Amino acid sequence: KRKHFVAPSILSADFAHLHDDIVMVNQSEADWFHIDIMDGVFVPNISFGFPVMASIAHYARKPLDVHLMIVEPDKYIKQFREAGADNITVHLEACTHLNRTVQAIKELGCTAGVAINPSTPVSHLHEIIEDVDLVLVMSVNPGFGGQKFIDTTYRKIRELKDLAADRNDQLLIEVDGGVNSHNALALLKAGADILVAGNSIFAAKNPIHTIAELKRITPD
Ligand code: DX5
Ligand code: ZN
Repeated sequence: KRKHFVAPSILSADFAHLHDDIVMVNQSEADWFHIDIMDGVFVPNISFGFPVMASIAHYARKPLDVHLMIVEPDKYIKQFREAGADNITVHLEACTHLNRTVQAIKELGCTAGVAINPSTPVSHLHEIIEDVDLVLVMSVNPGFGGQKFIDTTYRKIRELKDLAADRNDQLLIEVDGGVNSHNALALLKAGADILVAGNSIFAAKNPIHTIAELKRITPD
């Protein structure tokens, strides 16, 4: 089994000292930067946009995993790519022509992901799973960091793992929301490949140590 990734969510960083937190992630065992973009329409919160994203890209020494929690993502994917995105994930619930959006992301030369909300069944991915590099399973209702993990996520990841075994064995399964060192092992056992963690990393006394702890967990 391939080694899992850890992706610290910058939403939980200290925005007045963003450079410090970016350097911390650079120096840590983290694999990706997870960047949450919220528009106040798809989710009831607004995070940050292109200037902040470009500033992160300027200092980040690891791939940027951009999670778009916005309506009409097609309008902005090119700009996010230009701002430094290596992976762009859109929400299934925000896309009328999901296949078109996924193809457009891939044409920009980055990998494409689809995210599903806690209330969206895995079965809704049947017609897109072969075309995506990654599926992000939301384990909280998107919009805020620091929320409580929803337990039905384990079953969804197992179901997605089975579907991927049939249709796309290269698929990366990412889990996002309320991930910490207590539930990480069960998530990896269920089939997760990428652990996104915001609060559990940035609110920790020693974030570098917490990242190392999340990396060290092995499902075998
Ligand atoms: C939630 C975001 C998450 C969030 C995770 O809408 O998509 O990436 O920042 O933060 P924690 O780990 O604190 O739940
Ligand atoms: Zn996210």
